[in-house]
Amino acid sequence: MGGSVFGTLFKVITFGESHGPGLGCVIDGCPAGLPLNAEDISRDLRRRRPGAGGASTSRAEEDEPEILSGVYEGRTLGTPIAVLVRNTGQRSADYDKLKDLYRPGHADWTWETKYGFRDHRGGGRSSARETLGRVAAGAVARVFLASRGIEIRAWTSSAAGIAAPRLFPVSEPQAADPAFDWDEIERNLLRMPGKAAAAKALEVLTEIAAQGDSAGCEVSCLVRNLPPGLGEPVFDKLDARIAGAMLSLGAAKGIEFGAGFAAALGRGSKLNDQPVPAGNRPPEWAAGLPPGVPAASWKSNNSGGVLGGLSTGQDLYFTVAFKPVPSIMKKQETINRRGEKEELAIQGRHDTCIAPRAVPVVEAMTALVLADLVLLDRCSRV
Ligand SMILES: Cc1cc2nc3c(=O)[nH]c(=O)nc-3n(C[C@H](O)[C@H](O)[C@H](O)COP(=O)(O)O)c2cc1C
Repeated sequence: MGGSVFGTLFKVITFGESHGPGLGCVIDGCPAGLPLNAEDISRDLRRRRPGAGGASTSRAEEDEPEILSGVYEGRTLGTPIAVLVRNTGQRSADYDKLKDLYRPGHADWTWETKYGFRDHRGGGRSSARETLGRVAAGAVARVFLASRGIEIRAWTSSAAGIAAPRLFPVSEPQAADPAFDWDEIERNLLRMPGKAAAAKALEVLTEIAAQGDSAGCEVSCLVRNLPPGLGEPVFDKLDARIAGAMLSLGAAKGIEFGAGFAAALGRGSKLNDQPVPAGNRPPEWAAGLPPGVPAASWKSNNSGGVLGGLSTGQDLYFTVAFKPVPSIMKKQETINRRGEKEELAIQGRHDTCIAPRAVPVVEAMTALVLADLVLLDRCSRV
C-alpha cells in the first residue's frame, strides 16, 4: 500500500492500525538543534483524545508517546525522529459483527475491493486513530514553526448546524464577530470560540447521540506571522498543499479559503484585496523581501492569505467541512460478504461529531505543510 508518506523536505511516514500493537510516525528532515521533548507531543495528543461529552467516543485512550530516536539531551539531532504510541484501550470484540459487513459511509467496501483483505477491528487504518501519527508529527513541525514565530490556531466553526461566532464574516472580511473569544476555544467541550454557541451545539449533539445518529461540522484555522512568499507557484501552491492535506483526513468533504465559495457570487471590486503601504510592519518582515520590493499591507483578506499559491504575509485562513461520522447506532441497510442484504446498527465507541477532535488534527496537518514549505523556501533564490 502506498500513500503513507507526506512532505518533500520535512517528510513524514505514519504507521499503525486502530487495534494493532501501536501507531506513530517517523519524521525525516527535521532540522537539528530544535528543543523537543515528549511533552511537546503529548500536549497535542491529549487534545486529540476522546472525551468531549455528547460529541466524542468514550474509548479510553492513554496515548503516551515514546520518542525512539532523533532526540538527544532535549534537542533534535537531525536524524529520523520515530514516535511510537502503543494501543491500550482496544475492544476488538465490539467489531466482530462488522467482519463480514460493510458499514455505510465508511471505507470497508472500497478497501476490501482494492486489497481483497482488511483489518476490520476498529476500522484498521481507515480509523480516525490513524490521525495519531499525524498529530505526533505535527507537534514536532509546530515546535519548528514556533521557533520562527509562526502560530497555528484552529477551532470548531460549526457543529450540527449551530454556527460559532465568525472571525471573518464574509460580508465584512476583516471584522471579527465581537462574540469570537479565543480563550473560550480550549475551555468548552466542542472547541468553539463562543460559550453560548458551544452550549447550544452540545445540547443538539446530545439529542442526536441519543437518537443513535451523528452530525457534521466545520473546523476553521488561522495561521499568524507567516512570512510572504511561502509555497511553490505551480503544483505545490500553498493553498493546494493545504487543501490536499485537509482532504486526506477521514470525513473531510470540502475546504474554502478566505471568503471561500461565497467569492463565486461576488464582484472583483468587492473581493480583490487591495494593497496599501505597509504601515507598522515590523522591520524584520521587510528585511526578508528582495531588494526593490516594497513592504505591503492589504485592505482585506478575502484571499485567505494566499495569492498565486504564495503566502501574502497576512494571516492564512481556511475552513474545512466534515461530514457526519459514518458509524451510527441507528439501523441502516447494507450488504454482507455474500452480497446479501442485512440491517446494521453499529455498536462500539464512536464520535457523534468529529468537531472537537478534528481541531488538533487540522492544526497538525497545517503544521506539516508549513514546515515543509518553510524548508523548501530556503532554496527559492540566491
Ligand atoms: C478526528 C476524526 C474522528 C473520527 N471519528 C470517527 C468515529 O468515531 N467513527 C467513524 O465511523 N468515523 C470516524 N471518523 C471518520 C472516518 O475516519 C471516515 O469517515 C472514514 O475513514 C471514511 O472516509 P471518508 O469519510 O473520508 O470517505 C473520524 C474522522 C476524524 C478525522
